[in-house]
Amino acid sequence: MNNIKATITGVAGYVPEYRLTNDELAQMVDTSDEWIMTRIGIKERRILKGEGKGTSDMGAEAVKSLLEKTNTKPEEVDVLINCTVTPDMQFPATANIISDKVGIKNAFSFDLNAGCSGFLYGLETISKFVESGKYKKAVLVGADKMSSIVDYQDRATSPIFGDGAGAILVEPTTDESIGIMDSKLQSDGVGRIHLHQKAGGSVKPASHETVDAREHYIYQEGQPVFKWAVSKMADVSVEMMERNNITPDDLTWLVPHQANNRIIEATAKRMGIKKEQVMINIQKFGNTTAATLPLCLWEWEPQLKKGDNIILATFGAGFTWGSMYIKWGYDGK
Ligand code: UT7
Repeated sequence: MNNIKATITGVAGYVPEYRLTNDELAQMVDTSDEWIMTRIGIKERRILKGEGKGTSDMGAEAVKSLLEKTNTKPEEVDVLINCTVTPDMQFPATANIISDKVGIKNAFSFDLNAGCSGFLYGLETISKFVESGKYKKAVLVGADKMSSIVDYQDRATSPIFGDGAGAILVEPTTDESIGIMDSKLQSDGVGRIHLHQKAGGSVKPASHETVDAREHYIYQEGQPVFKWAVSKMADVSVEMMERNNITPDDLTWLVPHQANNRIIEATAKRMGIKKEQVMINIQKFGNTTAATLPLCLWEWEPQLKKGDNIILATFGAGFTWGSMYIKWGYDGK
């Protein structure tokens, strides 16, 4: 066993300019600002506009700004993983396209899909590459253009999702006081009946009929997903605290997936922590799927200090869920 740990050494994010407000959404479907704020906690979400623009464009913006702020040359990057459920196209991987757009030429790159848990699954995966000692500069991207699969005639799903991208640099460290300390990730495919995309895959390739039936959009049964999310995300986060002897006072930040403010509050309550210890930006960006965790880290980065105890937690399609304990690696500004 070597003593190399993986640590996050930089964070960047990108959100498109266009803000889809609840009031504008209420002109498209039968909903209201009051219902969305009470039941979900979202005020507006960003939407990527423009012909020919996709997930890779947002991912590339995030990676470009990450490389700049960490003084990393594109050719130094060894591996890039892009987590997404909305790839530019079925193949090739959007990670390949992002790498091409930012000039990353000496790396291998691939996509990872674990629904809204994509970024945490990606961090678990990429950290193992780094801990092996073989890879020195690893880039992890979480990027989703959810507006490409949201049905803006469906009031049950259209308020929830937004577009965005985040990226982090992961590097090796032998400093025992920082880095990725512990994690627990899980999945249960039984949950697929409650949250999926009906057509466009190998089971039901896209056709006139599937498009007419609007089967290329997100299908979600909100209530079962809600129940699973509340119990699984809280259980695994509490377990993360217990097995690492972290008391509520020891925890600097909880970084939860931003799917519903009520799910976030329930998780925080079960962990016994205060609202002030939780990163929440769902009101501004909605659920950006694989991008929620890095967008939180990006926004809070200036406040973070070396050694901060942080727990990341997610739940998403699959079902997939998990929690990770990290000790932050550097002082923000
Ligand atoms: O990130 C991936 C994981 N996804 C999640 O974590 C999402 C989990 N689920 C949820 O967040 C919630 O279930 C939703 C936000 C999707 C829905 O909230 P809810 O409190 O579970 O509402 P509901 O589906 O039980 O619907 C309650 C009522 C229904 O009307 P009736 O039957 O009581 O008359 C719905 O038709 O609210 C109605 N409704 C709406 N009303 C106004 C549903 N959507 C809307 C809407 N505006 N947008």
